[in-house]
Amino acid sequence: MQRSIFRTGLVALSLTSGLCVNLSRSAEPGAPTRPDWLSHEDRVEDLLKQMTLEEKVGQLVQFSNGTATGPENVKVDQDALLARGGIGSIFNATGAKNTNAMQRVAMEKSRLKIPLLFGLDVIHGYRTTFPVPLGLAATWDPALVEQTARVAAVEASAEGVRWTFAPMVDIARDPRWGRIMEGAGEDPYLGGLFAAAYVRGFQGKDLSDPTSLLACAKHYVGYGGAEAGRDYNSVDMSERMLREIYLPPFRAAADAGVGTFMSAFNSLSGVPTSANHFTLTTVLRDEWAFKGFVVSDWTSIAELIPHGIALDGRTAARKAFAAGVDMDMQANLYATHLPKLVGDGKVSAAAVDESVRRVLRMKIALGLFEKPYTDESLAERVELASDHVQLARRAAEASFVLLKNERARPIDGGPVLPLSEGKTVALIGPLADSAEDMLGEWSCKGDKKDVVTLRTSLAERLKDRLIYAKGTDVRTDSRAGFEEAIEAAKKADVVIMAMGEHRQMSGEAASRSKIDLPGNQQELVKAVAGTGKPIVLVVFSGRPLTLAWEAEHVGAILQAWHPGAQAGPALSRTLFGEASPAGRLTATFPRSLGQVPLYYNHFKTGRPIHGEDDDEKDTGFRFNSRYIDEKNSPLFPFGWGLTYTTFTYSPVKASAETISLADINAGKTINVEGTVTNSGGREGTEVAQLYIRQRGTSVVRPVRELKGFERLTLKPGESRVVRFEIGREQLAFWNIDMKHEAEAAELAVWIAPHAAAGKPAMVRITD
Ligand code: BGC
Repeated sequence: MQRSIFRTGLVALSLTSGLCVNLSRSAEPGAPTRPDWLSHEDRVEDLLKQMTLEEKVGQLVQFSNGTATGPENVKVDQDALLARGGIGSIFNATGAKNTNAMQRVAMEKSRLKIPLLFGLDVIHGYRTTFPVPLGLAATWDPALVEQTARVAAVEASAEGVRWTFAPMVDIARDPRWGRIMEGAGEDPYLGGLFAAAYVRGFQGKDLSDPTSLLACAKHYVGYGGAEAGRDYNSVDMSERMLREIYLPPFRAAADAGVGTFMSAFNSLSGVPTSANHFTLTTVLRDEWAFKGFVVSDWTSIAELIPHGIALDGRTAARKAFAAGVDMDMQANLYATHLPKLVGDGKVSAAAVDESVRRVLRMKIALGLFEKPYTDESLAERVELASDHVQLARRAAEASFVLLKNERARPIDGGPVLPLSEGKTVALIGPLADSAEDMLGEWSCKGDKKDVVTLRTSLAERLKDRLIYAKGTDVRTDSRAGFEEAIEAAKKADVVIMAMGEHRQMSGEAASRSKIDLPGNQQELVKAVAGTGKPIVLVVFSGRPLTLAWEAEHVGAILQAWHPGAQAGPALSRTLFGEASPAGRLTATFPRSLGQVPLYYNHFKTGRPIHGEDDDEKDTGFRFNSRYIDEKNSPLFPFGWGLTYTTFTYSPVKASAETISLADINAGKTINVEGTVTNSGGREGTEVAQLYIRQRGTSVVRPVRELKGFERLTLKPGESRVVRFEIGREQLAFWNIDMKHEAEAAELAVWIAPHAAAGKPAMVRITD
């Protein structure tokens, strides 16, 4: 029996062993050692004393060298600047020879020989490509994700890269926003667990380890709340919403010891986040005591001008710096204006010193002064190492979410999946053999040559029992390939359709106003469904898609995201049942686009369609919060995911019917438990999810909030009791006085397979 637990103070009881284990976070394997950045202060001060103002500002300047990841509106002579100590960090440079050559200029030509810090977007793997982050989040397995980040760090650092612009911890509730693919989805609690896992994985146990990659929590903050899901768009929200939903993953990253933050592009309630003193200083520095440094996003300081809060570069630089942005990515405004702003008394020299200290501390902590270069033969030895590739396969398998698996159109009397051997399979679709698309966006040094596609894997397995027809392209109106696809389906016992988005349809600047299967793919599915053959739809995408028609007409749907280099083996093993789907959604799948934004932890209105109890049937009463042409509920809710077996849940039991607020505040907890049983015929993994709701409080609380979960791998017939403790940490919220406190309330607690299931136990928290 395997198990993993991700909740401070969570208790699990195994029925089989009768063993009670209490795991606190510090006892988890891989728990972070808080970086000791402040232990080199003498060295920092010694350097600072020797630096001219220009050299100091140089440490706060960053330029891209290599493939651009934003508009290239600044061209500078980087070598000349480097030799003058005018650049503190270079990003987008890869290859050990390349980074070493640039480092040599800094180390041999600059006066003070301060090493460069090389940054890069190492998002879901370096050379070995893992599933996109939204897929990794669907594993509900932070320990696994931590391992993927560690592998990425080992490979990236081999080429001299010691800083990643990851994790992206933006909460995303709108699937139109292409960057939903870069994060962990819609839930702040889960977002926090993954944020911390990435930080631990990237940074390792100690920054001075040469395989350590300084992490960067981005994009601070609210970026995922972009109005209408359009990238870079404005965001306006209450402080309560900011603190309840959008800030927690950043806080979790800070608590896990993340070294850097990146300020975002968006304005937040009227103040651009790259000039937002409240978020960058009041919250980050004063409340959270963050000691690392903040880098802007790509030219986000210059973008204060189009935002309209600066008329020129000098003002933009002054405002960003005063708000708390330490390093200027790519805008060249700090280099151009900061020295003069200091000279004119508009920016204090002491403030510049403080920012420089923050950068120097990191460089010292990373051991860059002692070991500025990387061994040029190392990358070849570590990249795509067999254990890395194995991990890519395991991570992909764990990320797949079985959305539907119907018995109504059985093959051999059972549900469509898993497929049995010996059948003839038609493989149809534009993504069946598209190596590049499997890599997903931000695939770093992932190479399509490293990818095994679904077609390749199925051909190996099925030999001449595989019939392949592409059928259509991802985005086209042409039906030229339809006939061949229909013929292939007719000859087969079962059809696998590999459909969805190509990789550039999600990620940055890839918002969509329609989130269905693009082009004429749905028409192709309809045409193939017309043959009457059972269909397994494998969906590749970087976001939830609207799949209402498909969910009604297709036998099985497997959400595969963009699964990375091992797409083919992972899918083939899953489709044939050697691996079982264990993923769960971390972003709600809407029925139709008009429901968006749609997320599980919404507020109840004064006119809810379900009455007081969430399980009550909709009465259909007109004057309620509803659509006249669509249900309110999602197609697939948060937490959803089927397996090849079935699980049942016992009623939830709480240790008390009432508990006083004073007891909660004194550290007492309520224990809740439920029994999960594998009621099917195969071993499988369930994710038992703990949700709460509070009523009678000073402000409206969400209809459900995830507060814990446990992954359970159970044999057929096996049962496990899952237990959770609910205390102040789980109950506190930002109340009417904007204090983070627990209150007297009526508490509902679910232990359930997803956010729309189960019956709660009720507990009174009394005054
Ligand atoms: C993106 C960031 C990224 C940066 C550097 C920007 O356009 O918003 O996420 O880290 O470019 O590549």
